[in-house]
Amino acid sequence: MIEAKEVYFSYSDGTVALKNIDMKIGPGDMIYITGPSGSGKTSLLKLFMGIEYPTKGILNVLGQPIVRGQASKIRQMRRMIGPVFQDFRLVMGRTAIENVMLGARFLNFAPKKLKENAANALVKVGLEKKMFSLVEHLSWGECQRVAIARAVIRQPKLILADEPTGNLDKDNALNIIELFASLKERDTTVIVTTHATHLIENIKEGKLIRIENGIICEERLG
Ligand SMILES: Nc1ncnc2c1ncn2[C@@H]1O[C@H](COP(=O)(O)OP(=O)(O)OP(=O)(O)O)[C@@H](O)[C@H]1O
Ligand SMILES: [Mg+2]
Repeated sequence: MIEAKEVYFSYSDGTVALKNIDMKIGPGDMIYITGPSGSGKTSLLKLFMGIEYPTKGILNVLGQPIVRGQASKIRQMRRMIGPVFQDFRLVMGRTAIENVMLGARFLNFAPKKLKENAANALVKVGLEKKMFSLVEHLSWGECQRVAIARAVIRQPKLILADEPTGNLDKDNALNIIELFASLKERDTTVIVTTHATHLIENIKEGKLIRIENGIICEERLG
């Protein structure tokens, strides 16, 4: 699913964001990545999405080597990923349900089925009352939940979620974590970055990876 061997990553300005990352993540795994601001969490997710490439080392995601010169194959691989970006990236001027439907535009759902699945995904994140609201009329936390529904509707093999519970109160945050955990039945792998220590202190299932200064400094099974 994901295999990283001695991966290093620097931005073009020379900032070293990740150092000597070794990871093996399998189908159905639930992984929490935590660490201080600037420690490299988002950078790691960018590598997993093939938005950036390792400067050194070997990285394979869903069978695809993350290397330069394979842009179209990497785009293909990305269709199996459900991303939840830290800044959501919703389409303004569109409703919540339209945004969720956009998440599944690559899948060949019949239009009725697409709408039904989008509505179901919004119910799962507790937004049944906001389905037809324009996203610019939603609160931060509501936008975040639209972004999560949009990732889930793709029926991805891998969910990469950057601080998906950052703007949510405890109940909504736990609801999202439960939703992600339930995807294990479909063998979906979920990788979540989070500062929310209350969510991960008592994790019963899954693995916690702590990054500091671009280095993995703790790995713990829940
Ligand atoms: N586009 C960029 N160009 C140069 N440096 C960058 C870029 N994006 C991030 N960095 C740097 O890379 C390091 C890791 O950043 P990253 O965004 O991965 O941290 P993070 O753990 O996600 O932080 P946060 O918890 O605040 O989201 C930081 O030092 C950051 O300043
Ligand atoms: Mg980040």
